[in-house]
Amino acid sequence: MTTPRPETLAKLTPVLTKRWLSPDAWRIGTYEKLDGYAALRKALKAHPDDLIQLVKDSGLRGRGGAGFPTGLKWGFIPQGDGKPHYLVVNADEGEPGTCKDLPLMTHDPHSLVEGVIIASYAIRANRAYIYIRGEAVHAARRLRNAVQEAYAKGYLGRNILGSGFDLELVVHSGAGAYICGEETALLDSLEGFRGQPRLRPPFPATHGLYASPTVVNNVGTIASVPYIVLGGAAWWKTMGTEKSSGPMIYSLSGRIANPGQYECSMGITLRELLELAGGMQPGHNLKFWTPGGSSTPLLTAEHLDVPLDFESVAAAGSILGTTATQIFSDQDCPVYATYRWLEFYHHESCGKCTPCREGNYWMVRVYQRILSGQGTYEDLDTLLDTCDNILGRSFCGLGDGATSPVTSSLQYFKQDYLDYIEGRTAPKLSDKQLVGAH
Ligand SMILES: Cc1cc2nc3c(=O)[nH]c(=O)nc-3n(C[C@H](O)[C@H](O)[C@H](O)COP(=O)(O)O)c2cc1C
Ligand code: SF4
Repeated sequence: MTTPRPETLAKLTPVLTKRWLSPDAWRIGTYEKLDGYAALRKALKAHPDDLIQLVKDSGLRGRGGAGFPTGLKWGFIPQGDGKPHYLVVNADEGEPGTCKDLPLMTHDPHSLVEGVIIASYAIRANRAYIYIRGEAVHAARRLRNAVQEAYAKGYLGRNILGSGFDLELVVHSGAGAYICGEETALLDSLEGFRGQPRLRPPFPATHGLYASPTVVNNVGTIASVPYIVLGGAAWWKTMGTEKSSGPMIYSLSGRIANPGQYECSMGITLRELLELAGGMQPGHNLKFWTPGGSSTPLLTAEHLDVPLDFESVAAAGSILGTTATQIFSDQDCPVYATYRWLEFYHHESCGKCTPCREGNYWMVRVYQRILSGQGTYEDLDTLLDTCDNILGRSFCGLGDGATSPVTSSLQYFKQDYLDYIEGRTAPKLSDKQLVGAH
């Protein structure tokens, strides 16, 4: 294990994670002692439009994967329309490798609750929902407890802190489907329907929950808001890059000495993150990695110095996504890893559109053939052709995302595929696993 140099350690910028190691960090008493709810008091004295402007000025971009500017999204909510407005927090966190929202809600749920109240005040919503992944029982318990504590202290409910602003906050557990993280499928699920994406336009900003104006934001996005209110837009912009401002929680997993969450200014590189994480595990050399979960094209050891911000990762041919860096070594097989991801996408495909439903089904079959030693050169063309028919032709991002590991692994590691086809690598799957596996 390597020890990080002081200059690399200085790249850690704990903001959203700063309370995580405090004793009883999830309790309201601890939160209040550590600046908790101070931002709310400040925000309630401001005009809601000024809060929207503040978030615009900070350059905050969504932490759920697409990096959409948050202030701009809030500004789309029509005001004075006489309709109820809703804030919905996306706490589904289903992207493989992603582990930042659940630890945040487990260790510091009040920062999310405080962010919800400020954001709801800004967009003039009197009802907010946090849609949390059903399996995340522990995080949901902590969150529900925090919501109860906030009600008891007058931070939620009627006439919050004497401001005249009312807000009801509901924590809703989903049943645990990856597609319910897609914002319109989430809204359908929240309304009690089967979670499947909606046709857009109209967009949630005008026709969201119960056909009313709705903001859907990620946990990390909303939990950032109290810090921006307290610290100001200029302070927030001291971290990160010009177009990707602020700190970001990078979740590191895989063949590294110390997996976990590392909060750093956006634009840190994987080389620096690896140093913070104690380096690769002994005997392992970096071979490939995902910058933002398995829906983002794989990168390789050549990309160790790419700044991990929205623009630079895009320029390197991938997507920053959820900053879930899964790290694989020369002892891992990119063909097998891609197969396992595809099994996930095939299983989680909601079935609404043909390219994703059928394409993922058939790609799993082709991978099984290759991994059982029965693949052909033609299979590689079939995979690329299938991806061509899924990417840009699917109803939602799940289909597009499923093609990322396939096309990128073929781009960088075609030799690994050929080694199975030409018999140099022993089959990873037996015939038994092939028949009736799906
Ligand atoms: C298949 C799929 C799954 C998604 N899962 C999540 C998720 O678990 N959490 C999340 O915040 N966003 C997820 N998203 C992105 C959301 O649709 C949406 O962009 C996001 O919640 C917006 O919040 P933000 O602007 O704060 O990033 C997913 C998108 C797709 C296509
Ligand atoms: S792309 Fe996949 S998950 Fe999305 S609507 Fe189509 S079938 Fe459903």
